Amino acid sequence: MSLTRRSFLLKGAAGAVGALAAATSDRLPTAAASGAIDHAKAHGGNLTVGEVDLRRLGFDPTRYLTQFDWGKATRLPNGRTLREYTVVAYEREIEIAPGVFFPAWVFNGTVPGPTLRAREGDQVRVKLINASKHPHTLHFHGFHKAEMDGVPGIGRGDVLPGETFTYEFEAAPFGLHLYHCHSQPLKRHIHKGLYGTFIIDPKQGRPSAREMVMMMNGFDTNFDSENEVYAVNTVAFHYAKHPIRVRRGELVRIYLVNLTEFDPINSIHIHGNFFHVYRTGTSLTTTEFTDTIMLCQAERAVLEMRFPYTGRYMFHAHQTEFTELGWMGFFEVTGDDAV
Ligand code: CU
Ligand code: CU
Repeated sequence: MSLTRRSFLLKGAAGAVGALAAATSDRLPTAAASGAIDHAKAHGGNLTVGEVDLRRLGFDPTRYLTQFDWGKATRLPNGRTLREYTVVAYEREIEIAPGVFFPAWVFNGTVPGPTLRAREGDQVRVKLINASKHPHTLHFHGFHKAEMDGVPGIGRGDVLPGETFTYEFEAAPFGLHLYHCHSQPLKRHIHKGLYGTFIIDPKQGRPSAREMVMMMNGFDTNFDSENEVYAVNTVAFHYAKHPIRVRRGELVRIYLVNLTEFDPINSIHIHGNFFHVYRTGTSLTTTEFTDTIMLCQAERAVLEMRFPYTGRYMFHAHQTEFTELGWMGFFEVTGDDAV
């Protein structure tokens, strides 16, 4: 059976329904079939049917939005803060849509890996333990010496299976950054899932807000160098089935990073609202007020907004194909709607 990208999730879901109907055909053929159709209709016919087993996955995209790893913090003799993190790389199968499994390479068990967070000027120490069968590195975006760059052939270069290496640098510049493996072939090492967000807060901080991390990613499930499934934070349509709850009028801050492999760009569009854009998060002055931005791979932006009305508002890639293959969700805005 050949599946085009466009039909992948739909056919996959229909196939599962077909198998269910066949398995129960001597008892409940009509009920199983019509139930499935009603279910699809109830979801507008555009989402996956069923749920990813988040417990088995060990990853809940709703919790992931606000999980920040500040490391183990201690005070250095010179008064600066030292933050120590541990990142373990290994192989693991993950469920990215109901019944769709992907043989991932993971940092600390999940794709994306942990969101590492520090303050401008902190000393950062990240220990990479390579518990996988392949060489890997940690390559951070930001300032550091060449031997801390995590690139094969420079300094330590590849960290081989069973080995560990500690990357150390001062957190700078403040902004929204990322880290990823830089071993060869790079496309595969990134696309397999070895990436995460790296936030460096400005010394004075940012205004208090409801913060969340969104990594736009994709999965090539049949290894043809095209993605079949798209998402923010890995699980297709997760935030469509589990809308992100925010309060009307509160400041919402999204740390948006694009780690989609194979496609040159990705994008976000938010309905019923506009947002302030801080590209790369390296300035506290907004440069743009819009409702759609696009990002190349590794580009990122801090987005700030307040929802003026209550209700359910869609957010999605503005490439329709990505939307249909999983990259779509909702904000559920609650609170007093009186003006
Ligand atoms: Cu790697
Ligand atoms: Cu990079």
